[in-house]
Amino acid sequence: MQNQEKRQNKKWWQQAVIYQIYPRSFYDSNSDGIGDLQGIIAKLDYLEELGIDAIWLSPVYRSPQDDNGYDISDYQDIDPIFGNLADMDALIEAAGKKGIRIIMDLVLNHTSDEHPWFKEARKSRENPYHDYYVWRDGTEGEYPNTLTSAFCGPAWEWVPECGQYYLHQFSVKQPDLNWDNPKLREEIYNMINWWIDRGVGGFRLDVIDLIGKEPDAMIMAEGKMLHPYIKEMSERTFHRADLVTVGEAWSATPERAWSYSNPDGSELSMVFQFEHMTLDQEPGKSKWDLAPLPFLKFKQVLSKWQTNLYNKGWNSLFLENHDLPRCVSRFGNDGKYRQESAKMLATLLFGMQGTPYIYQGQELGMTNVMFDIDEYRDIELLNLYKERKALGYSEEEIMRSIYAKGRDNARTPMQWSEAANAGFSEGTPWIRCNPNYTVINAEEERINQGSVFNYYKKLVALRKSEPVLIDGCYELLCAEDERLFAYTRENAADKVLVVCNFSDADVTFPMYDLWNDGEVLACNYAAPGNCGTLRPYEAVMIKK
Ligand code: GLC
Ligand code: CA
Repeated sequence: MQNQEKRQNKKWWQQAVIYQIYPRSFYDSNSDGIGDLQGIIAKLDYLEELGIDAIWLSPVYRSPQDDNGYDISDYQDIDPIFGNLADMDALIEAAGKKGIRIIMDLVLNHTSDEHPWFKEARKSRENPYHDYYVWRDGTEGEYPNTLTSAFCGPAWEWVPECGQYYLHQFSVKQPDLNWDNPKLREEIYNMINWWIDRGVGGFRLDVIDLIGKEPDAMIMAEGKMLHPYIKEMSERTFHRADLVTVGEAWSATPERAWSYSNPDGSELSMVFQFEHMTLDQEPGKSKWDLAPLPFLKFKQVLSKWQTNLYNKGWNSLFLENHDLPRCVSRFGNDGKYRQESAKMLATLLFGMQGTPYIYQGQELGMTNVMFDIDEYRDIELLNLYKERKALGYSEEEIMRSIYAKGRDNARTPMQWSEAANAGFSEGTPWIRCNPNYTVINAEEERINQGSVFNYYKKLVALRKSEPVLIDGCYELLCAEDERLFAYTRENAADKVLVVCNFSDADVTFPMYDLWNDGEVLACNYAAPGNCGTLRPYEAVMIKK
């Protein structure tokens, strides 16, 4: 009762746990090798058991699938590989009955080059849709400037019919939209409202920090008009219902996040930022230029976001998604201590302030893969391979980067059972399964009480029963410790300690005496170790 009262001044999405589905890899209901909407409906019981509140669905709109759906050719239709609008309505309804909301992935920075707008736009400079995209004059072979695409090569593509280049920050098949055109913005708002009327629970806004781009000034993220456009969109659309809105922003700083996730609701509910995800790479270079994780910095960065957004904004808590490697392979130990370290990372995340995200398979402790190059499917990874080959990198070095950071690590089929193809499909999966599905799979994990799945289930429940995890103030402990990540959360009623051992050795936590009479909320071993010694990858959450 007391807990309920305290929760009332929090929004539903501040108390929620969100589960991300990458539809093509989740569950295939019709044996064509590609996951689909009916497949998600078939697995709703599983998600209900885990206890999640909302599903973020990676894009299922009509698309040529050049970037697996992040290249949309019709925002108001479902791609036939995933089903149709009736399936989508059925999913919203079936999930709704279980109290699960559906969050759509809105890709508003660009469309597919096969979108009717772009097909018109490229016909001539006079075409009414021409200005929906970003064009610059020039001569063939001489680019307007040196901007490059996130997927390799120049960000400009020549169109002879117009004698102009168009901008594409991602693949050539993803032309950038021109948000400075009011008619375009109007069409986008109408489309968003159409989805709101269909009953969706919210939106994840893909690379939203790029929409205010100023290509002539070489400014892509955080252009002058970015926040005014987000405010306008929010007012015209999101404010109509009690939605959750999540802005993907690689360029966000805590100060910028105050604006994105201003508690006054003028922009979005929360920011999804990546600073902690960019540390294990050579400074100033790309994610493919690997470097060991600077652990103290990692703690510092996560802590900075915790303290800076307290009462001023709202965080997304995540350690993996469809663009990132598996967290147990990246930050834990996916061999001997796979279970312990997967649970340890979950404890670290679920103890913090913000809305936790579980990416499909993370709750099973799914791991990275090492495939042959012809078994990979991701456009970013394949372009990188070609580019680095041409630049003279060794095969070995390129593959090392791909094994560590390739996006297909997270896109292998969900491991449902030890049956053929991990129980994902009775056809041939669009991408190979991780061969470890015979050992790591949902069927096994649900039965085994000590599994990663059952541990996640427990953490999800703790987010509901312990208000301090939602509103408690954060403090980092042992900042200089090279192996322990320890912090507290505190509100007027309770104080919670989280300690995580990031190493495969025993480590002593010096403040344990202050806590050993507290209530153990979670521990990834049968019980906490003696005298404050944490065993390899041990994690404990204790309340006083
Ligand atoms: C986002 C998506 C990623 C996609 C890119 C272009 O970063 O998460 O998957 O490739 O935007 O839309
Ligand atoms: Ca299918």
